[in-house]
Amino acid sequence: MTTIGILGAGQAGSTLARAAIAAGYDVVIANSRGPGTLAALIDELGPHARAAHATDAAAAADFVVTAFPYAPGDKLPVEALAGKVVLDTNNYMAWRDGNYPEVDSGLKTIHELRQEQLPTAKVAKAFTHIQFHARSPVRVDGQSRDELIRNLQSARRTPFS
Ligand SMILES: NC(=O)c1ccc[n+]([C@@H]2O[C@H](COP(=O)([O-])OP(=O)(O)OC[C@H]3O[C@@H](n4cnc5c(N)ncnc54)[C@H](OP(=O)(O)O)[C@@H]3O)[C@@H](O)[C@H]2O)c1
Repeated sequence: MTTIGILGAGQAGSTLARAAIAAGYDVVIANSRGPGTLAALIDELGPHARAAHATDAAAAADFVVTAFPYAPGDKLPVEALAGKVVLDTNNYMAWRDGNYPEVDSGLKTIHELRQEQLPTAKVAKAFTHIQFHARSPVRVDGQSRDELIRNLQSARRTPFS
C-alpha cells in the first residue's frame, strides 16, 4: 500500500487527503500545530488516515505533498524528506504571502524556492489547480479582501482591446 504524507491539513491538504483515500492510498497528514488538533479530520477520513507531526508524516510516506504556502522561514522536515518526491501545491499569491523578487522577475518559480528549502528532496509542482469546495469560509483577512475586491472591480471596468 502506498502511503502519501500530506504536510498541510487545510483546504488543499484535506481535499487531497479525501481524494487520495478514495483512490485507495493511505494518508499520514500533518499541520503546524500537531496531530492532536486534527482529530475531527481523522474521524472524517477514516481508518486509512492518521495524523502525525510533520517529521513523522514525512518519514512514513512513500512520497509527500506540501499543502501550505511558501515562506522563507518555513520549518520543514528536511532530513526525513531526503531522497523523496515532494509534490508542491503552492500557488504564488502575492496578495496572500507577499512578494518574492526572484519570482516577480521571472528568475525562479515559487517551486524552485521550495526546492532550495529541501535540497535533498525532489520537488515538483502538482495539484496547484485543484478546487476546494467550501466546507468552511474562505480565509482572507479584511485588508486583503478589500484589495482583492478593488482589483476585481478595476479588472471588470477595464475594456478588452
Ligand atoms: N485552497 C485551495 O483551493 C487550493 C488549491 C490549489 C492549491 N492551493 C495551495 O495549497 C496551499 C495551501 O492552501 P490552503 O488553502 O489549503 O491553506 P490553509 O487552508 O490555510 O491550510 C494551510 C495548512 O498548512 C498547515 N501548515 C502551515 N505550515 C506548515 C508546516 N510548516 N508544516 C506542516 N503544515 C503546515 C496549516 O497548519 P495550521 O493550521 O496548524 O497552521 C494548515 O493546516 C497554498 O500554497 C495554496 O496556494 C490551495
